[in-house]
Amino acid sequence: MSNINILHMNQGVGGKSYAKNSSIQMSMMSKTLTIVKDTITDMFTNHFTPFEILETFKIADVGCASGPNTLLFVSEVIDTVYNLSNQNQNKSLEISIVLNDLHKNDFNNIFSALPSFYNRLQERHGYEFSQKCFISGVAASFYERLLPCKSVHFVHSSNSLHWLSQVPNNLKNKGHIYMAKDCLPNVFEAYKNQFYKDFSSFINKRSHEILPSGRMVLTFMGRSIPEPSSNDCCCLWELLAQSLLDMVSQQGLIQKEVVDSFNLPLYTPYTDEVKEIIMEEKSFDLEKMEIFKYNWDQDDNNDKKKSGEILANCIRAAIEPMLRTHFGELFLNNVFKRYTERIADHLKIEKTKFINFTICLRKK
Ligand SMILES: C[S@@+](CC[C@H](N)C(=O)[O-])C[C@H]1O[C@@H](n2cnc3c(N)ncnc32)[C@H](O)[C@@H]1O
Repeated sequence: MSNINILHMNQGVGGKSYAKNSSIQMSMMSKTLTIVKDTITDMFTNHFTPFEILETFKIADVGCASGPNTLLFVSEVIDTVYNLSNQNQNKSLEISIVLNDLHKNDFNNIFSALPSFYNRLQERHGYEFSQKCFISGVAASFYERLLPCKSVHFVHSSNSLHWLSQVPNNLKNKGHIYMAKDCLPNVFEAYKNQFYKDFSSFINKRSHEILPSGRMVLTFMGRSIPEPSSNDCCCLWELLAQSLLDMVSQQGLIQKEVVDSFNLPLYTPYTDEVKEIIMEEKSFDLEKMEIFKYNWDQDDNNDKKKSGEILANCIRAAIEPMLRTHFGELFLNNVFKRYTERIADHLKIEKTKFINFTICLRKK
């Protein structure tokens, strides 16, 4: 990794920080970055466009957030392109990087970090090269068009595409906040349909924006078996649902109806579902699909309470703004304390894994 300072924390949409980048997150990031660098190198080596005459390499990172990982990705990509441009005697190559997230994302946080980012870039590669790197932002949903037609060579998205554009319409899912073992069949169907609609729309919108032979590298959560209520996809969220229900039954802090009316706009697809959508949409070839499995426990860590705490904090960083909007702020500390205990208790009985996919697509 390049010498950008990694601030060891993760930031949710609302900008509050709870979690250090855990070893799982660091390992996920380094695996994705390796695939990103290999893909860009391959694009140039296999001359998707004659390198010598390429004036600007155009990249978009969609669902970029506003934490340190955002500029870490940018830094790694710039270093890769800098090395390639030197190897290929194209020293005048310019780089354009568009960062995208939703309107409520803290873009100010990214832009206020840019002066020191450019200082470090200058130290690494000189003033002249730093002047050729253009970073801009687009605030919009990636389920809509973001960029002009045929205007980008490479699109990246990390840990964002499991978020749906909305909770499926008319979902009746009392006592749960996501798919769970004892949900009614129509809950599984509704979530699957929403993912098909959203992911297909994402690919279709990008197909207009990416140049022929351009690539996308996408990393998101998924599941390893067809069964939609498998532990590796649902358990984490069902333990949170139970922690919310604990606030109803034990302490009367939240009304049952308020829990019943909350569902996550999330889907953890099975590999074949992802492949099917890509095939049906027809704009891209699937070049690579890597499946990564990570234990919920930190490596070699027998301290289940600590593992529970780390995992609960990661989830809190990602979804607290959503919970705050629905439940208010008052009880969240209690909810996450209970969630930590529930994760720790689960880990004492059963090892469970996260599943992450990284896919590499090539525009036809
Ligand atoms: C867990 S963060 C991932 C951040 C970063 N890419 C990383 O890997 O560390 C997920 C991000 O996706 C963004 N996101 C979710 N749905 C989105 C959408 N429809 N359009 C754009 N961004 C979205 C969220 O706002 C959030 O910043």
